[in-house]
Amino acid sequence: MSVMSDEKVEKYGECLLKLGGLLEGEGDEIVKMASIASVLHGAFEGFYWTGFYRNLGGELVIGPYQGTPACLRIGMGRGVCGTAAETGETQVVEDVHAFPGHIACDARSASEIVVPVTVGGEVIAVLDVDSTMLHYFDSVDAEYLEMIVSRFF
Ligand code: SME
Repeated sequence: MSVMSDEKVEKYGECLLKLGGLLEGEGDEIVKMASIASVLHGAFEGFYWTGFYRNLGGELVIGPYQGTPACLRIGMGRGVCGTAAETGETQVVEDVHAFPGHIACDARSASEIVVPVTVGGEVIAVLDVDSTMLHYFDSVDAEYLEMIVSRFF
């Protein structure tokens, strides 16, 4: 495992501890999403945009999030977020410019990971993180972000 992966694992461990304390007994989805976005965004310097798009009637609608303003609504199957929501599979995109149909909300974003939030077999939201660095996200991020959404939703 590389040094960078070790650092990531340590930081994700800290985030899980922090969120566990913060969200104990909390049931509200928006409270949980806002807290997860805040804790993750504050922990990783490489996270440029961190947040959720909620599935509202088959359309992905922004928020809660941390970062620069972004596209408000994304159709199912569109872009990286819509692909994750439609397939129910985490998308790790090392170079967003190489992803067909990527939606560029901010020209500085270079790589991205999108993790579906599934409750009762339905994708209720996606967790989206963008970085200005190419190849920033890998299987460690996928594993821990999936762990975070499955633990709190
Ligand atoms: N790039 C995303 C759109 C959302 S922003 O990155 C915050 C996509 O292709 O779905």
